[in-house]
Amino acid sequence: MEDRSPVVIDMTGADIHAEGERIREHGPVGRVELPQGVRAWSITGYEAGRQVLGDRRFSKDGRRHWTAFVNGQIDPQFPLISWALMENMGTTYGSAHTRLRRLVARAFTPRRVEAMRATIKKSVASLLEDLAGSPPGAIVDLKSRYAHPLAAEVIFELIGVPAEARQTILRGGEAQVDTTMTEEEEAASIGLVLQEMAALVAAKRRTPADDLTSDLIGAQDGEDGSGLEDGELIGTLLFLLGTGTEPVTNLVTNSILALLANPGQRQLIDAGQASWQDAIEETLRMDAPVAHMPFRFAVEDVQLGDVTIPAGDPVLVNFAAMGRDPAIHGATAGSFDIARPDKKHLAFGHGMYVCLGMRLGLLETGTAVPALFERFPDLALAVGVEEVKPQNTFIMNGRSELPVLLSATQQ
Ligand code: HEM
Repeated sequence: MEDRSPVVIDMTGADIHAEGERIREHGPVGRVELPQGVRAWSITGYEAGRQVLGDRRFSKDGRRHWTAFVNGQIDPQFPLISWALMENMGTTYGSAHTRLRRLVARAFTPRRVEAMRATIKKSVASLLEDLAGSPPGAIVDLKSRYAHPLAAEVIFELIGVPAEARQTILRGGEAQVDTTMTEEEEAASIGLVLQEMAALVAAKRRTPADDLTSDLIGAQDGEDGSGLEDGELIGTLLFLLGTGTEPVTNLVTNSILALLANPGQRQLIDAGQASWQDAIEETLRMDAPVAHMPFRFAVEDVQLGDVTIPAGDPVLVNFAAMGRDPAIHGATAGSFDIARPDKKHLAFGHGMYVCLGMRLGLLETGTAVPALFERFPDLALAVGVEEVKPQNTFIMNGRSELPVLLSATQQ
């Protein structure tokens, strides 16, 4: 396997699943090449992925554990450098990660998530109302007019971002995952976001409110009694904005697309033979909203089946490919089958970095998807399935837009 040529990762994410299948030809642990010839491992097997996600010998701290970076062999212009070096809980390891995760989890309580139910319903109702006002026959993009505004609205409300700062922050979020943007464009956009976030933190320190930012400001670490510094707080809020918006947008979009592309599956729900939750779980398995989350690094040599990952090597966990592992889901792993008895997936991760927003994301999607189909029972794709363009990224797995016709009379 070591002798096989690495699969060159397409930064535009043109066909994440076909690429995943090419990597799988190497076995559950494959070799890939990133820009500038940077080599990494890509985990496509469910069992191997579960092992990596739960194994403390994999770090997310590139400054300490990425040998090529530590040795100065990584060009500072490497397009994915910010994913390895940004300062937030997504790049911490060991006790540094445990401390941040504990503080965030404390502010991210089931009570706070449950309190978002009313916001989610209100936001869904208002977005549906807005869609219903579209001119007859108009092609409507459900990503930009439904999935994305809902996900963004919910996370803005949760964090307590004032209305006037929201557009700037949204543009910065898009820049962060767009792996086709230049570094200058990305930096300019993110600079503006940092200013908004600094202003937000200053305002909440002065006047706390009933929101997650105020909870985070108040959260004290039980061990040394310290809280989050401003820099850590801003990093954490930005991380939450990114992790809370993009994957939810994709889960809503991908679920709608899968149901529209497979009308027979939708009929199973109408006939009471399957539920909306079945459809959402099957989407998570078959079309995971996060494709890869860069990076992990082996802290020591780690044996995964018959492959040894050397200490210091970067590893990409390929969430999109793991859900389609034929060793778990057989020959039909790539099909959308909501009645499938075992929809086992790792789309929310596993182990010490498992998603903190799973409950919230499922609440949003479980509200948005049924409400849309109930409001527009004749909803149909406005283009062929193959023409629905993927998102410009290999990190996320979504669509750049989802063009639909809202009712049969429009067609
Ligand atoms: C519904 C769609 C969602 C999906 C598919 C998803 C997926 C994931 C995945 C795969 C990871 C693990 C990354 C890794 O191990 O490298 C993760 C982590 C995380 N997610 Fe989510 N996520 C979703 C929604 C959310 C929401 C709504 C929030 C919060 C507002 C959120 C916050 C987080 C955080 C904070 C982490 C990092 C946990 C840590 O580092 O300890 N996610 N998510």
